[in-house]
Amino acid sequence: MIEINSLTKSFGTGANKLQVLKGIDMKIERGELVALMGPSGCGKSTLLNIIGGLLPADSGEIDLESRKYGLKNPSAVVDVRRTLVGWIFQDFHLLDHLTALDNVAMALEISGVPSKEAEKRALDALERVNLGDRVDHIPDQLSGGQQQRVAIARAIAGNRPLLLADEPTGNLDIASGGEVLQLFKDLCHDEENPISILMVTHDPDLASKADRMLLMREGKVAASDIRSAWGLDEGGEEE
Ligand SMILES: Nc1ncnc2c1ncn2[C@@H]1O[C@H](COP(=O)(O)OP(=O)(O)O)[C@@H](O)[C@H]1O
Ligand SMILES: [Mg+2]
Repeated sequence: MIEINSLTKSFGTGANKLQVLKGIDMKIERGELVALMGPSGCGKSTLLNIIGGLLPADSGEIDLESRKYGLKNPSAVVDVRRTLVGWIFQDFHLLDHLTALDNVAMALEISGVPSKEAEKRALDALERVNLGDRVDHIPDQLSGGQQQRVAIARAIAGNRPLLLADEPTGNLDIASGGEVLQLFKDLCHDEENPISILMVTHDPDLASKADRMLLMREGKVAASDIRSAWGLDEGGEEE
């Protein structure tokens, strides 16, 4: 569903030039939950920003459900942000004074959904993340894990095929982080409407529960499965 070819990106010029992405290649299928790991500062967020249509790359191409982009300015990929890619952040990015329902519904209204319809879709999305009994609570009245589930409801309510999650469990305790991961798996493996999720994480335990793990190192994707990421494929040991 998404294929990325030879993506490069640098920041700064001259002596201050920093080449962050040096030719990223990756492919994610519909229904796949992919974990992206790599040392701090290696370019994970930069890559997500380019995929999400928030930042242009220097060269290379992204093909997301036949929409080709990657080098265009953010103003030229409004449709990518509006219809193809949803976001989940480490610190949830909810509006403090709005209920769970209004947080989700407002995101839909901004993208042009009439308010009655937005409310109905928001309710459905909150039920899918098991928050049907918390729709009238504001963020302060919810646990961290519940707040992140509101953010996930907001991300799935727009029916976008790809979700980008930048350290979504970074502010959560182990149990809530595990719940978020299980929810991601359920959304990806849904039989009727599977989506794909690319999730940055520092937690090898969570990453090992994804369908696949990618390791970014020195501007490239170093491994596309867990065994080779941990060096387990060397030495010819059979499974
Ligand atoms: N807008 C920017 N201008 C200059 N340097 C940047 C910018 N965004 C990121 N960088 C640099 O690019 C590198 C990769 O950053 P980032 O993608 O945030 O890494 P990660 O998410 O893997 O920790 C870092 O060295 C960071 O300082
Ligand atoms: Mg980052």
